[in-house]
Amino acid sequence: MSPSASAPTPTTPFGASADLPKPPGLTWRVQSREPVGYDVHIVRGLLDPANPTLARACGADGQNPTRCLVVVDDKVRTLYGERVRAYLDAWRVESFWKVLPGDEAAKELTSAVEVTEAMTAMGLLRRTEKVVAIGGGVVLDVAGFAASLYRRGVPYVRVPTTLLGQIDAGIGVKTGVNHGTHKNRLGTYYAPETALIDPEFLATVDPRHIVNGMAEIIKMALVKDRTLFELLEAVVAGAGPQSLTAGGAAATEVISRAIAGMLDELEPNLWEQVLERSVDYGHTFSPSLELRADPPLLHGEAVAADMAICVALAHHRGLLCADDTDRALRLMHDAGLPLSHPVFTTDLLAESLRDAVKHRDGLQRVPLTDGIGRVRFVNDLTHEELGRAREFVAQRAAALGAPEDGRVLAVAS
Ligand SMILES: NC(=O)c1ccc[n+]([C@@H]2O[C@H](COP(=O)([O-])OP(=O)(O)OC[C@H]3O[C@@H](n4cnc5c(N)ncnc54)[C@H](O)[C@@H]3O)[C@@H](O)[C@H]2O)c1
Repeated sequence: MSPSASAPTPTTPFGASADLPKPPGLTWRVQSREPVGYDVHIVRGLLDPANPTLARACGADGQNPTRCLVVVDDKVRTLYGERVRAYLDAWRVESFWKVLPGDEAAKELTSAVEVTEAMTAMGLLRRTEKVVAIGGGVVLDVAGFAASLYRRGVPYVRVPTTLLGQIDAGIGVKTGVNHGTHKNRLGTYYAPETALIDPEFLATVDPRHIVNGMAEIIKMALVKDRTLFELLEAVVAGAGPQSLTAGGAAATEVISRAIAGMLDELEPNLWEQVLERSVDYGHTFSPSLELRADPPLLHGEAVAADMAICVALAHHRGLLCADDTDRALRLMHDAGLPLSHPVFTTDLLAESLRDAVKHRDGLQRVPLTDGIGRVRFVNDLTHEELGRAREFVAQRAAALGAPEDGRVLAVAS
């Protein structure tokens, strides 16, 4: 790289040019690109020793010994730990384990630091030995954050085990932890080497967490995929959200459409250079709600309450007809998601919007449905519109029989 000399003659601070030594006046510009590529596979029977997919992701060939750090959700360790260990043993992978609690309360900086300490304790080789994160969105976000920090980045593999993890948290490049009352306030963009999705893990996921994942699938349907929306209506009216764990044809289509839609949106904008992101639908007001509701709401539940407001906002702007508005709210309600929450006052909505404006670099950039399956961004939402949307949702929620206190209805298994 060649420096470029600066042309002007230096002047003194008082304006007159002087016989002072000239400062170097040289500028270097550094430019570089980092290619990012990772695979997302749906693989059934991931823990079957006859299946080489996970072993290959760990760099194992079954002949030469290798090592990895398994960062695993505590419930997943209880349910699947022995099978994971037996699998890795069969492939001659010496595994070191760091167990982390799932659930939002554990998504904090100290957890990530503990993961880096586990890397130090095993003496993780910087390039060849992998971190294998197995769990829900919380463990994946924490482990990915730790992997991005340790020696400024070590390779990691994601194995999402919840529905939300498999269609969202486990397949993008974002990592992070919560800080203060702020969701994901500390975080990085750090791609895994691969994400391995085995829908068989869903069989043991708590029903409320299946519904939670369903919220992010409804989001993808609303902003991008009307066919998926209709498929979801059929699933919810038929066998119910829990049938997504059964692995039938409809479940496979729902999960693969949701993943495809998500990756399609993420890929051209991995580092969020463009801040108008349709996948931010349902994520304008929900970050404030999620950590403030008491008892706490799950991520997808807060997203659903946010989406309900956005459905109403779109309806009042003439972007969503009465029938589609009704269908969207009914689908969320029938799936078992809350449409409103008492914490969601108009003032809190306005405050969350102000925070979103900072996050979105000075503009609201709120995605609203422009018909089901399409999105348009608006920058001029008013306090009065927010109040009207909130009232509309409260009325519709009451008509659908939703509890007034925003309680999440018991989800049948
Ligand atoms: N990085 C991203 O792009 C991204 C995207 C969306 C959401 N997220 C984050 O994901 C998190 C939510 O993830 P989540 O909904 O998976 O929650 P979670 O990780 O807390 O998991 C939910 C519960 O399920 C348990 N669990 C996990 N797998 C299981 C299994 N197979 N069987 C039985 N129990 C199991 C966990 O222990 C936990 O109790 C939030 O923190 C959210 O911010 C991140």
